[in-house]
Amino acid sequence: MALLNILRYPDPRLHNVARPVEQVDDYIRQLADDMLATMYDAEGVGLAATQVDVHLRLLVMDTSDGHNQPWVLINPEIIARSAEMRRSDEGCLSVPTIYDEVERHAIVTVRAQGRDGQPFELEAHDLMAVCVQHEMDHLLGKVFVEYLSPLKRERIKTKMIKKTRDEMGRRRA
Ligand code: NI
Repeated sequence: MALLNILRYPDPRLHNVARPVEQVDDYIRQLADDMLATMYDAEGVGLAATQVDVHLRLLVMDTSDGHNQPWVLINPEIIARSAEMRRSDEGCLSVPTIYDEVERHAIVTVRAQGRDGQPFELEAHDLMAVCVQHEMDHLLGKVFVEYLSPLKRERIKTKMIKKTRDEMGRRRA
């Protein structure tokens, strides 16, 4: 199992649109396993392939309290959405230390293939609903900060560029 490098906003590769996975083979299963390891290591609840610079429609998540209920969603599609919307604070492994409110559908039903390639449907509520919508946005090249005001987004961009520069400086020292 390998830990993968997570792209950081405003890396332009975060705006790539992912292609469908054509076949769930060993490469895809390894990628899913590595993404789960990377997500747990970074203490996140979700990770999209886009964030590790693989532009395929695959995401992983685990919103359980015990961090022991991993999900692998390949070629996910939302097939039903609640009319009810809900606002909640979101963060993102590609935008570390930044949290802000985003409005999402309270409940979504997703159809996807699992790690075994078999199709399944999942009705996601609460944090899982937020997470799956957030990760599916990544697969379309969208980062949650794009829901915020242009002013906020610019501040976040500046902060992330500075943070990345500081960290690189520390690594050289
Ligand atoms: Ni994210």
